Amino acid sequence: MLFRQLYDPETSTYTYLLADEETLEGVLIDTVREQFERDVTLLRELGIKVISTLETHVHADHVTASGRFRTEFGSKVAVSAAAGVANADIGLKHGDQVSFGRCALEARATPGHTGGCMTFVSHAERMAFTGDALLIRGCGRTDFQEGDPGTLYRSVREQILTLPDETRLYPGHDYKGRMVTTVAEEKRFNARLALDKTPEQFEEIMNALDLAYPKKIDEAVPANLESGLVESTPAPGAVAQVMDALGPQSAENFMGAGI
Ligand code: FE2
Repeated sequence: MLFRQLYDPETSTYTYLLADEETLEGVLIDTVREQFERDVTLLRELGIKVISTLETHVHADHVTASGRFRTEFGSKVAVSAAAGVANADIGLKHGDQVSFGRCALEARATPGHTGGCMTFVSHAERMAFTGDALLIRGCGRTDFQEGDPGTLYRSVREQILTLPDETRLYPGHDYKGRMVTTVAEEKRFNARLALDKTPEQFEEIMNALDLAYPKKIDEAVPANLESGLVESTPAPGAVAQVMDALGPQSAENFMGAGI
């Protein structure tokens, strides 16, 4: 299977390209609107036809390019049926298979960061794409978009850390330059979800984070609920008002939040 890990420096977001090297059919996971041209160039160079764009969830920190890929290349927009994306082509459910050429991914529901989070697992390649459910040594925040620490704890423990130890895990973001981890590593070293952490400890950690309001959420979530095709602009001052209501927050709080 062809595999490329791509990066958006502004939002620290990873986009993944997976393709069958023989049939040249592929999928993109978590595209970023501002990186559309970069991705199209790579697809053209490699001769890959994207048949679907997958979302691990409705993102709050960037706008997807999935609608634009559909308009220009006829690919299908695939996202969890629980995510509420009205114009999606495929509403994924737990256990669904996403096939491209001779390759396949299993969609596993891993809610808790948002209500519609999915992890995509390649059993053949021993790889999984966890979105923000599990980050390297951390996890996505659980304080908005139907986030819930107890739900996320169960998702990660039951659907991700039960994969074989050598499974490579690719996150939705990393804010420190790391690119990949493994199930074995996260079981030992994840600061929030390692095997020695109880659900109570996890909830305590998550509730004490006191994170800043995501700077792009008012634009990104409404746009992503339309596959990125709506240029939504928050009402003037809406973000500033919420930031004021939350009180002073450090940039450090924002970075590493896993949004
Ligand atoms: Fe997220």
